[in-house]
Amino acid sequence: MISTSGTDVNSSSNDPPKSLGEEERVFFRKALLKWYRLNARDLPWRKTRDPYAILVSEMMLQQTQVATARDYYERFLKRFPTVRDLAAADETDVLTAWAGLGYYRRARLLHAAAITISEKHAGDFPASLDLLRALPGVGDYTAGALASFVFDTPAALVDANVSRVFARLHALCEPTKTSSSKKHLWKWAEELLSRRQPRLYNNALMELGALVCTPANPRCVQCPVISVCRAHASGLVTRLPVLPATIAPVPLYYAGVALVCGEKLFLRQISEGGWHAGMWEFPKFSCETLPTKPPRALRNFVHSLTPHYAFEVQPHDFRYSVTHHRITLRMWIVRVDPESTPACLPEGEWLTMQNLKNRPLPSPQKRIGKWVAQHALMDSLP
Ligand code: ADE
Repeated sequence: MISTSGTDVNSSSNDPPKSLGEEERVFFRKALLKWYRLNARDLPWRKTRDPYAILVSEMMLQQTQVATARDYYERFLKRFPTVRDLAAADETDVLTAWAGLGYYRRARLLHAAAITISEKHAGDFPASLDLLRALPGVGDYTAGALASFVFDTPAALVDANVSRVFARLHALCEPTKTSSSKKHLWKWAEELLSRRQPRLYNNALMELGALVCTPANPRCVQCPVISVCRAHASGLVTRLPVLPATIAPVPLYYAGVALVCGEKLFLRQISEGGWHAGMWEFPKFSCETLPTKPPRALRNFVHSLTPHYAFEVQPHDFRYSVTHHRITLRMWIVRVDPESTPACLPEGEWLTMQNLKNRPLPSPQKRIGKWVAQHALMDSLP
């Protein structure tokens, strides 16, 4: 008996899930490729064979929806057209181009991969799976995607879409992230892979997961491989894949301050080791509960900069999530006197709204910037 988010799924036996038979595999490949030729979306990274552009797309698509990634992809390639341009860029500029996509570690890894390719491979992308896997940020999935999409090498891949398709196809009654499931999924990926048209086939497989075999409300009536789908045959489609036990969200509270000095705002760079390291933020202080008034650490911080300041407007709450943490950041606006406030501060910088656009800010910090501009920088708004 296996539980899918609270409901039990009866697996018919304790035997491990079985591979499709040879005839079923031949049918699967043929039906999938035929469906893809008629239903493929027109996506920019499918029109190129440039390994750098494909690496950029794959790094973006790891945690981001196609619709969002698309705009970022085009802008990123305009800003850094070649792997050498990216390798030569400042990390701050790379993070700025990535700002809003989240999961900023990907941007740093992409930058590091570009540096490795420029320095170790003289700017040429390696073609072998092992060398691709040795690039920063490139794991089994991305190596398979690069090898097949760029070089049309018969390399298997498994991502979240493919895991879902295969979990249903084989009626895998165990969460897809366990090590035993991962072994099954990669084995099936190898067995089913089209050796003759790996690029087309891998794209088709991911497209089936994105358009038909979706997490909620799968469109089984449109599925080209329904006749070999074991979850469909056993009435389990909507109960598979089995969901892992959920992690309870952890609330975190912060008090933050937007220091306003004339037309400038005070921001600091987030230090190494923290979430969003290298990006910029308004100073904030961790609290045990949501503070009703500015906590001592915040007041001391303001006071250490200048004795002449005034708290303005009511504080405003910004809520956002980082991994399983649910964050509430209560922001105060504090206006300081330009006459008695040092222009240079060791911990951060005074920035205009225009400067802010060229700094990498996580999305919640961008929202705070807009709020401050509305409430405290009315004169500087166009
Ligand atoms: N998700 C990850 N890689 C993708 C790709 N190349 N096309 C569409 N969705 C994807």
